[in-house]
Formats: sequence, structure tokens, C-alpha cells
Amino acid sequence: MLHVANVSAGYAGFQALFDVSLDVNAGESVAVIGPNGAGKTTLLRLISKLIEPTRGDILFETKNLNDVPPHSVVARGIAHVPENRRLFPRLTAEENLRMGAFTSRRQYAERLDQVYALFPLLKERRRQIAGTMSGGEQQMCAIGRALMSGPKLLLLDEPSAGLAPVVVQAIFQLVGRICAQGYTVLIVEQNIRQVLKVVSRAYLLDAGRIVQSGSAAELLAAPEIQKAYLGL
Ligand SMILES: Nc1ncnc2c1ncn2[C@@H]1O[C@H](COP(=O)(O)OP(=O)(O)OP(=O)(O)O)[C@@H](O)[C@H]1O
Ligand SMILES: [Mg+2]
Repeated sequence: MLHVANVSAGYAGFQALFDVSLDVNAGESVAVIGPNGAGKTTLLRLISKLIEPTRGDILFETKNLNDVPPHSVVARGIAHVPENRRLFPRLTAEENLRMGAFTSRRQYAERLDQVYALFPLLKERRRQIAGTMSGGEQQMCAIGRALMSGPKLLLLDEPSAGLAPVVVQAIFQLVGRICAQGYTVLIVEQNIRQVLKVVSRAYLLDAGRIVQSGSAAELLAAPEIQKAYLGL
């Protein structure tokens, strides 16, 4: 579904990604793991066309995204849950969900039911002003908003960031449920141990380069990862 081929990118003279290649197949959940500043967010921004690569190609369903403007990425089936969630803080939870369906108003009611079935808590909170919800609830709402567009590919940027440990658990359970439902998911995380329990495959990104890849089980057992990232 997604084919990232030899992509390099950066910001005004600073190169953040070097010759990155990765694939995500339909129905698969894939993680890109890596420490602070590795380039994880940059990679997701490239896929949603918020920045342009300096080299390489990104293909989505075999079509090159080079000439696709950022505003038509959602309509093509890519939904991005950004770092720090970026909800509309003065709107209610449900109004935020409605914003996610702006490309597909006809399916609004049906999608809303699906999202509420996935996150019953969000239904209870539907009239709450988003800015007053807890961090975990806001993250849930941001993921729900992305699902409201009916995406083929869901991009998640560190959904566990800034949350209390018990909430982190809940968010990963939720991400696990989304993966198990057959959504195609590309998630970037530095919470390596937890994310490797919910995805099927992963890539390790370090200082802008993919340095390792394999099944989630392989990476969890890899001595380099255990030593450098899992504190074993
Ligand atoms: N707008 C920007 N201008 C200049 N440099 C940037 C910009 N955004 C990111 N960078 C740099 O690019 C590199 C990769 O950043 P990126 O945000 O992609 O990392 P990350 O893996 O998402 O990190 P984190 O886990 O902290 O979110 C970092 O060195 C960062 O300082
Ligand atoms: Mg980031």
C-alpha cells in the first residue's frame, strides 16, 4: 500500500532523513521506532505531503505522491494523527470528530457509530469541550477524528507521548484493537517495548537512517535493541 523508496529530507540546510526505504502492506501494522530526534515525525510529514523530499519517491497504492498536493492526501485515504494531537480545543469531542469527516459527509453517521463502538468512552464525553479532556481522552479523540475520514492508511505520531504510564497502557491497548480490526497502520514511537507488542513489523530509525528492520518479535529479541533501548 505504501512504498517509501530511498527518501532523503530535511529542513533548510539540515538533513533529517538519509535514504530511507520502507513498505507497509494492506492490513498490516508497522512501527517506526527510534529515539528523540531520529526523524520519525519528519517521515510522517513526508507521507502526508506536509514537507517534500529532497530525494526519493513515496508511492501510495502504486501512485507516486510527488505531484499530490497536501490537501488531497486525506481524500486519497491517508489520515495523520499528528504529534501533540492538535485537536480544536474549543470544540466538543463530537465536533472534532465531525471535522475529521469533512471529506466524506455522507458516511458521517455510520462512521461516528464505528468510532463510538471502538471508543465507548468518547461517546460518553461527546459533549465535552476537547480542551478540557484528559490527555488520554484527547489522544483517543484525535485518533477517532482521523478514523472519521475512513482512511486506508492511518499514520500515528507517538500517541503515547506525554501521557501517564497507566494511560499509556490504555492507548496501546486501543492501538492494538485498531490494528486487530484490520486497519493499515504506520505508527512512530519511542515507547519501543509497548509498541512492539501491538504491531506486526517494525523499522528502527536512528539519526535519520533505518538501521534495522524485522518482525516485532525479532526486534524485541535483538540484543542491540535490548541493550540500547530496553535497558536489558
Ligand atoms: N522545523 C524544523 N526545522 C529545523 N529542524 C527540524 C525541524 N523539525 C525537526 N527538525 C530536526 O530534524 C530532526 C528530526 O526531527 P523529528 O521531529 O523528525 O524527530 P522525531 O524522531 O520525531 O523526534 P521526537 O521523538 O522528539 O518527536 C531533529 O534533529 C530535529 O531537530
Ligand atoms: Mg516526533
